[in-house]
Amino acid sequence: MLHERLKPFPKNFLWGAASAAYQVEGAWNEDDKGVSIWDTFVRIPGKTFKGTNGDVAVDNYHRYKEDISLMAEMGLKAYRFSVAWTRIYPNGKGEVNQKGLDFYNKLIDELIKHKIEPICTIYHWDLPQALQDEYGGWESRKIIEDFKNYSVTLFKEFGDRVKYWVSLNEQNIFTRLGYQTALHPPGVKDDRLFFQVNHHANLANAVAIKEFRKYVPDGKIGPSFAYSPAYPASSKPEDILAFENAEEFTNHWWLDIYVHGKYPKATWEYLERKGIAPKVEEGDFSILQEGKPDFLGVNYYQTTTYEKNPLGGVTMDGHFNNTGKKGTAEDIGVPGLFKTVANENLERTNWDWNIDPQGLRIGLRRLLNLYGLPILISENGLGEFDQVEKDGSIRDDYRIDYIRAHLKAIQEAMTDGVEIIGYCVWSFTDLLSWLNGFQKRYGLVYVNQHEEGEHDLRRIKKKSFYWYKDVIENNGSNL
Ligand code: NOJ
Repeated sequence: MLHERLKPFPKNFLWGAASAAYQVEGAWNEDDKGVSIWDTFVRIPGKTFKGTNGDVAVDNYHRYKEDISLMAEMGLKAYRFSVAWTRIYPNGKGEVNQKGLDFYNKLIDELIKHKIEPICTIYHWDLPQALQDEYGGWESRKIIEDFKNYSVTLFKEFGDRVKYWVSLNEQNIFTRLGYQTALHPPGVKDDRLFFQVNHHANLANAVAIKEFRKYVPDGKIGPSFAYSPAYPASSKPEDILAFENAEEFTNHWWLDIYVHGKYPKATWEYLERKGIAPKVEEGDFSILQEGKPDFLGVNYYQTTTYEKNPLGGVTMDGHFNNTGKKGTAEDIGVPGLFKTVANENLERTNWDWNIDPQGLRIGLRRLLNLYGLPILISENGLGEFDQVEKDGSIRDDYRIDYIRAHLKAIQEAMTDGVEIIGYCVWSFTDLLSWLNGFQKRYGLVYVNQHEEGEHDLRRIKKKSFYWYKDVIENNGSNL
């Protein structure tokens, strides 16, 4: 039998964990922070599970030192966090809020003190409400200038110590959920706007990356993409075509722009025929081509399987529809190309997401062949209903199995030739799930926070905490 030798993880591999400001910080109106679209949205009755919001979240704003000391105990090499735009510019622009800068300076210094590489996400969905009110946020080209100004402030303030940056987190998700399914703010369903908003976000992303080169010349920057590689449901040619359409429409529509500064042709033609292609101004493609990232951030949770849609209408499954309900054609609107189906070959989590580590290897190889950029796995992890046992332990073996399998797939992809600079497990502590509150947990550290009942916010290390610590200590040689 052929013995395949796997490449070892590189010595400087960034063994990390990730979070986002709105999901961990709390302190929603402290130290002159402004209101974000999420602060507003969660207050609309019925939008989130039992009305949960991020007012307190897991109180990381006040407990960041405790959390970082747990990271140090684990031996974590990198921590990906996001900046709340509204802490830096309470109204999205104008006068900078020194208290906001102070908080992130303290956080960054604390990480560095513990030899943890900071990875800073500029935008993880919490747009200043003031910009939404003034010009519709991402709906207007005005966002490009304001995003640039905000990004430059961060580069100038933190770029001396922060060398890894994520520009936009999951543009494909925040625009889809914000403008197609209406499950996230601003809660709109409008396909034309969806593509226009994306065009503006693409431009903002490229402009910020171009600025980055001036201020942090020795740093690395890239967007984090929610990558769900497409599979065909069968070998029927019509299903293969549906799969090809889906791969282009749901993945390469963004990735081609990020890396090559152009939209994939067939999708563009399709949108033009439908009259919903984005309005592009002269010079836009030059701007887009000047904003090539250094790496692609990949947030991977599962694959999606497609077949021909006999009825017209692109349907969606639980991955994009965070309510856990199966999607319908109306959820997305743009008709005709494909429909998602459950992949019977894969197990599913209790939150109805498929478990597919090989899908990660498959996806990473596609990215290697099409884009050739280094990859940061900027998120991967398992959302579950964790239980605290009577003895106070949390035995999340299912999470260990999930992460181990994905790390093995990463090692296989590295052996295939993909350059992977790091892996950020989602998430370090438990945190607020945007729509599902605290019933859906991802952390390696439990936080005693609930929608109802006792919630003293104390931290408890889960079994996965000790397991990941061991993996880091052994640089992944013991998977
Ligand atoms: C994607 C997002 O970036 C993050 O905010 C979210 O909580 C996780 N994945 C899990 O859905």
